[in-house]
Amino acid sequence: MADNVKLIIDTDPGIDDAMAIFYAAAAPEIELLGLTSIFGNVTVETATRNALRLLEAAGVDAPVAAGEKTPLVLPPFEPSSHVHGDEGFGDIPAATPKGRAIDETAADFLCRMAREHKGELVVCPIGPLTNIAKAIQQDPEFTKNVARIVLMGGSYREGGNITPHAEANIYHDPHAAEVVFASDARVEMIGLDVTHRILCSAEDFTAIAEAAPKLGGMLQDMSHFYLKFYLSVGKLGGCSLHDPAAVIACSHPELFTGEDVTLGVTCEGEASGATVDVSDGRSSTCVYMAVDAAKVKALFLTRLATLN
Ligand code: BDR
Ligand code: CA
Repeated sequence: MADNVKLIIDTDPGIDDAMAIFYAAAAPEIELLGLTSIFGNVTVETATRNALRLLEAAGVDAPVAAGEKTPLVLPPFEPSSHVHGDEGFGDIPAATPKGRAIDETAADFLCRMAREHKGELVVCPIGPLTNIAKAIQQDPEFTKNVARIVLMGGSYREGGNITPHAEANIYHDPHAAEVVFASDARVEMIGLDVTHRILCSAEDFTAIAEAAPKLGGMLQDMSHFYLKFYLSVGKLGGCSLHDPAAVIACSHPELFTGEDVTLGVTCEGEASGATVDVSDGRSSTCVYMAVDAAKVKALFLTRLATLN
């Protein structure tokens, strides 16, 4: 286990994003330095509002910086409301946060924090990678300053979830993902190869809500919509803990087994968004392919149970 992980989560909340952020709030070894928002499951405006709302609910005093509205190259996508609901939290009505985003873009905030915490900052993107690509493009030192980029996205051998080839976060900005994988940053990928192995059922959410009525109850309320989507696509064992798995990998990499792959992204055609071995001499990405799913899930459940 890594101690005192200085973490920024780049997020499009999003039901499993909410789970990941509450997990980070509950984990004593994680110091949450802030959130950056991105389009994806919802628009960036809704993502920013939801990020503020989640931090306030969890009692975490950390800044939120608003990110990009659209992909680097592709035209904008419709939000994934069939998966996460119109406002990102399933059937839970939108609530207005008290605070507001800081006066700095997500990319500026990421570059500044990486400079200020050189060699220590871990960035955990759990949405499309546009903000991270912008940070790489605007500050040549960013990839050296940041300790690790541990992202939820992609699929190496598992096949896609939004198309047969692509995972949703990479599909929504393949050009940005290509910038990240082609960079010389230390990049670790938590893709569908592992997240499809970590499932959470309706009974698990009931247990979380019983142990932690306020925040666990909020997650349980959101989970109804998410579980319904999973059922509709034939996944009977529960929903995948996509985004929480990436946050857990930031502090518990020992629960995952990786392969070093010179990873790139297909940016055009039917396979757009596929993550593939490009074998072109670039720095390799650590692609996690196996996971101790029982331990990851146990950590998730026990940590969330401590939330008030
Ligand atoms: C990813 O896509 C989004 O719907 C989830 O929040 C997660 O980040 C899973 O493919
Ligand atoms: Ca997400």
